[in-house]
Amino acid sequence: MLPVLVVHGGAGQIPKEQSEASTSGVCSAARAGYAILRGGGSSMDAVVEAVSQMENNPSFNAGCGSVLNVKGEVEMDAIVMDGKTLGSGAVSAVRNIANPVQLARLVMDKTSHSCLTAEGANQFARAMGVPEIPPESLITEYSRMRWKKNLAPDANPVECQMGKMGTVGAVAVDSEGNVACATSTGGMLNKMEGRVGDTACIGSGGYADNQTGAVSPTGHGEAIMKITLARLILFHMEQGQSVEAACDLGLAYMKSRVGGLGGVVTVDPQGHWAANFSSRQMVWAAAQKDTLHYGLYTGEHFTQSIDSPQ
Ligand code: GLY
Repeated sequence: MLPVLVVHGGAGQIPKEQSEASTSGVCSAARAGYAILRGGGSSMDAVVEAVSQMENNPSFNAGCGSVLNVKGEVEMDAIVMDGKTLGSGAVSAVRNIANPVQLARLVMDKTSHSCLTAEGANQFARAMGVPEIPPESLITEYSRMRWKKNLAPDANPVECQMGKMGTVGAVAVDSEGNVACATSTGGMLNKMEGRVGDTACIGSGGYADNQTGAVSPTGHGEAIMKITLARLILFHMEQGQSVEAACDLGLAYMKSRVGGLGGVVTVDPQGHWAANFSSRQMVWAAAQKDTLHYGLYTGEHFTQSIDSPQ
């Protein structure tokens, strides 16, 4: 069953013209993360690699391709968590960093803190030698178009966001049974400047514990935070639920209690995994036993050999 890696590229409804790029993006990210695991690497290295790949891919709302805040600027959040030590690191509202997930990992590895924000996160990035890039280089034509459209007084950015694409994330178990998670996002479309969502918040935008498993969510951050979705799913697993059932229980509770939609990827230390969602779609991919699994709709499940030509 081990190792295993599962990624998501956001919950919502992916426009038809983008579904191929999103699907191939999650498959490439899963292959890259799994290659690390297959070579004996750690689950933390694998999830950071998979999420970095999706941050570099403009098809996703993370890194390059992030949605814009109300002022038309990128502000990104990211988190990592290590299930062996319960160490975690996060950044919020960072603007000119290509790979916020790598900066989040540095927060975990090199500071005694759990989260650095905005200019403080940038100062830390400079101290660590992380290159700063022009913020405009993270803005795509598509994200600028959606920002403009959602400035209209009758716009509904939350609905519009759930109708498009979302956050990226990964969970993994390595050959030693260590679990890890990573999540990265540009946040919600046309959000207020300084808004921080679930992704930077431990227990909401991600959680990993070798005693239970690891979760990376996607969806409406304010809803996810109200019910601490990642930790809630692990609670259900602690109570004896399967990975699959725990995901469904967590997502159903978010829908009934706060009207929130979203999705999750989850693993347990034995290598059981799930990619479940309450939104119309979620693009996901999983790699296990040299097989790549992927899909976009509920019930959709394709497989191919991990080594087949891409
Ligand atoms: N789930 C991403 C966000 O709401 O910021």
